[in-house]
Amino acid sequence: MSTPKRYLITSALPYANGLKHVGHLAGAYIPADIYARYLRAQKRDVVFVCGSDEHGTAIPIQATKEGTTPRAIIDKYHEAMKQDFEDLSMSFDIYHRTSEPLHHETAQEFFTYLNDRGELEVKETEQYYDKEAKTFLADRYIKGTCPNCGSDRAFGDQCETCGRTLSPDELINPVSTLSGKTPIKKKTSHWYLPLGKHEQFLREWILEQHKDDWRATVVGQCKSWIEGGLQSRAVTRDLEWGIKVPLKDAEGKVLYVWFDAPIGYISATKQWALNNNKAWEPYWYDKDTQLVHFVGKDNIVFHCIIFPVMLKLHGNILPANVPANEFLNLEGDKMSTSRNWKLDMRDYINDFVKKENGGGQAVDMLRYYLTQIAPETKDSEFMWKGFQDAVNSELVSIFGNFVNRTWVLMHKLCGGKVPKLHEDLLDENDRSLMEEIKNAKTKIEGLLEEYKFREALFEVIDLSRKGNQYMQKKEPWIVAKQLAENPGVQKSIDNTMHLCLQLTANLAIFINPFLPNTAKTMIQMMKVVDKMLDWENAGKIKLLSVGYSLREPQLLFRKIEDAEVSEQIEKLKSNLIMNEPVKSNTPEPAPQSTDQPVNKSTIQFDDFAKIDLKVGTIVAAEKVEKADKLLKLSVDLGFETRTIVSGIALHFKPEDIVGKQVTVVTNLSPRKMRGIESNGMILIAEDKSGKLHFINPENAIDTGSNVS
Ligand code: MF3
Ligand code: ZN
Repeated sequence: MSTPKRYLITSALPYANGLKHVGHLAGAYIPADIYARYLRAQKRDVVFVCGSDEHGTAIPIQATKEGTTPRAIIDKYHEAMKQDFEDLSMSFDIYHRTSEPLHHETAQEFFTYLNDRGELEVKETEQYYDKEAKTFLADRYIKGTCPNCGSDRAFGDQCETCGRTLSPDELINPVSTLSGKTPIKKKTSHWYLPLGKHEQFLREWILEQHKDDWRATVVGQCKSWIEGGLQSRAVTRDLEWGIKVPLKDAEGKVLYVWFDAPIGYISATKQWALNNNKAWEPYWYDKDTQLVHFVGKDNIVFHCIIFPVMLKLHGNILPANVPANEFLNLEGDKMSTSRNWKLDMRDYINDFVKKENGGGQAVDMLRYYLTQIAPETKDSEFMWKGFQDAVNSELVSIFGNFVNRTWVLMHKLCGGKVPKLHEDLLDENDRSLMEEIKNAKTKIEGLLEEYKFREALFEVIDLSRKGNQYMQKKEPWIVAKQLAENPGVQKSIDNTMHLCLQLTANLAIFINPFLPNTAKTMIQMMKVVDKMLDWENAGKIKLLSVGYSLREPQLLFRKIEDAEVSEQIEKLKSNLIMNEPVKSNTPEPAPQSTDQPVNKSTIQFDDFAKIDLKVGTIVAAEKVEKADKLLKLSVDLGFETRTIVSGIALHFKPEDIVGKQVTVVTNLSPRKMRGIESNGMILIAEDKSGKLHFINPENAIDTGSNVS
């Protein structure tokens, strides 16, 4: 296959409704950044775009939660996310936003183009309408029971328990989240993209043309979508927040967020072109452009089916690949914003990056671990212990150790300069190391071109491991002991150190796309210019010239202490919001499965009898500082008054619940939440609308009564 003329790399535009966590980072951002950096090092023409996704119901919902306006929400989170990405060395050529007028125009033009050519259908349908709130209900404003897994917290667009994509009509017992009432059906017209018409194209393009070069998980998801029957998808909504439908008879209607957001890649490219005095059109129209979308698995259908159909109809190029990643779990459990079981990029930045001079080391340590565990083919797990192991036993003990030893010995045995290579004295070990360096280039670039970042990084570390083995075999520090008697051995030392230095220069080139800050430190040590990192230099043995004097070594990575690991795990646990059902960690179900509702497995009476339940009375309640969801309660249990921290602050006002009776689990082991020790748990029931209720006796009874 010939090399494309240019590349357009995209990372999924994150919703500007909250901070993003390391799962997002591992899924759609770091891999894209590695790829873009690699292509730039190859001197290919590449534009890497991203930006904030600022429409959709997620935004007004967050605004309601924070008691502010949608505009304030997007401004706040756009800036915050942009900063976080910068702090983690993401190298976007532009980080745009979909609230920009340029984007509104671009998306409207796109819609008009399709509509004028009759590619959209207008259909009148009955949609859920909330009579009390006097509004049509967007998918996110409807909750109900998931037809797939039975969870009663599914939304109209997706069940977050099992991950299944839904339409509001599939929900069992739908309820409006605005009023808590059952919505009625009311007529409304919308524009639809008739996907069914494009089935043949999608089958050929994905299931035949790309069946081997796209990831199996991606092709698999597309296949089940196509075989499940492609329905027309509404591309407009009855909403206030969004891009106005550019037609006269479309009052109160906006473009569906999933219609406008991917067009955001195009408007970002336009803005980049304006800023840099370039043309944007070739990136979206010229067949010689390789378009690659990096996304998480929940975005596959949009990037492989819906957006490509839009692009085809609009005359644009199609993505060459969509290397979607699976999900990243955290310490054995699914990451969740509502339960606060997550590691935000911001938290890592504050706890590690900001605490260090420059911060580059800490950034690279995270980039390393997230690449090493990247969920490329199946879900994977972020474990703090795993992070520590990856840093300490790979970055510090293998890569860092090799570079450091080389530098120290070069100063000690070669006067701080690059020694000569005596070709006539090369032995088998020297030759095989030179061979390894050359082979590494072929291997690493082959893997990168196939989006196998995990394996590519493994090869880089493996090459440094080979460097250590080589040095161990040659033992220049032992050879040096013979110098007094036999000055001729200096030549052998020179050869060893020369090759170790050339290997270090190669390692800097190879590690650069993954850990750019490390590469930077290495070129400072070598006193060479950035250009040395050009990919064309990789595999060469003559990167550092003989006689050139090099700087003192710098520590590339520091060790992660046990205390840091336990501190992070402690923090995670203490931030966990109780009273939210634990989501099960089931794999993505097939779209058509009809599984029964998930219930907990049967237990013996003895298991139940271990739980000590009593009726308590809330005697005091207050909000926990800096924790929106937590209330600190004092609960009288008859024999004593306990402090219990409960995640119910969004549902109850402290003043309303004092005096109420509740059922308390009194023998739960104590746990700290936000520094407060909680001694027990109160029982809560959640109804279909998501409202919480205490479980208490019909009429007030003695505090301390046993419940069984
Ligand atoms: N905001 C979406 C999400 O976080 C992703 C949008 S990707 C785009 O899941 F293509 F639409 F931009
Ligand atoms: Zn479900």
